[in-house]
Amino acid sequence: MSARLIDGKALAQEFRAELRIRVDRLRDAGIAPGLAVVIVGDDAASHVYVRNKSLACREIGMHSEVHALASGTTQAELVSFVRRLNDNPAIHGVLVQMPLPAGLDGRAVIEAIAPEKDVDGFHYQNVGALVAGEPAFYPCTPWGVMKLLEHEGVPLEGAHAVVVGRSTIVGKPMALMLINASATVTVCHSRTRDLAAITRQGDVLVAAVGRPGIIRGDMVKPGAVVIDVGINRLPDGRLAGDVDFESVARVASRLTPVPGGVGPMTIAMLLVNAVRSAERVAGLAAHGETRIA
Ligand code: GUN
Repeated sequence: MSARLIDGKALAQEFRAELRIRVDRLRDAGIAPGLAVVIVGDDAASHVYVRNKSLACREIGMHSEVHALASGTTQAELVSFVRRLNDNPAIHGVLVQMPLPAGLDGRAVIEAIAPEKDVDGFHYQNVGALVAGEPAFYPCTPWGVMKLLEHEGVPLEGAHAVVVGRSTIVGKPMALMLINASATVTVCHSRTRDLAAITRQGDVLVAAVGRPGIIRGDMVKPGAVVIDVGINRLPDGRLAGDVDFESVARVASRLTPVPGGVGPMTIAMLLVNAVRSAERVAGLAAHGETRIA
């Protein structure tokens, strides 16, 4: 293997250590930062994600509450639940776990979240700010990827970044963040013709498709930095990324592992957004004085 592994777990740990200090500073200012996570229905994987988010909050000293609502919850009930959290001064971040059960309108629920508490960065107001290149809450997974690239000192200005995947949660915001960092960005997706011809041009290649092993070594430019956002559960229970690890590791210069790459950064950036939200309420400066944001 020639690629060096990018350790997302270690960077996330560094971020959490800094956030613990910021949470203490908030407490000194009389504010206990709080995150509310709402989950509807009983999808087992979603419940695991939500538990992990809640545990991560507590680990840095934040208040966290999980509201598990029955799968029969109506749209009106869910929206009014979210509005109550908007009005609750003890809550600085509101997150509704997606996907919602069939019959509920996820977009309408996201738009019911107060933009200043939308720590997922999914509300149109925050999406618009990202498009405009202005500060806002940014979606946690692509923002975590940006922090990994920054930490690794990967030059983005003028580099060709290829993003495979066009989801609202990862692919599209990832492309915008890379554009805002002055990369030349190509977005590929399931209808892209000759995917390999395009991925082979990427100095930075981000795979966010949700198909195990779709990116093979012969699709990667020698020396490229490869970021694997995929977390796929294989039939035998193992986790696998979108990148075929063995073949890509022989070609890339750096590569994120699955698990231990992007995943831990997603939760770390959620904590960053929640702490920043509380800092805004407290009138404490979040920008400029810390390494993270
Ligand atoms: N479902 C999968 N990823 C996410 C996420 O980042 N936020 C929310 N709210 N739901 C998700």
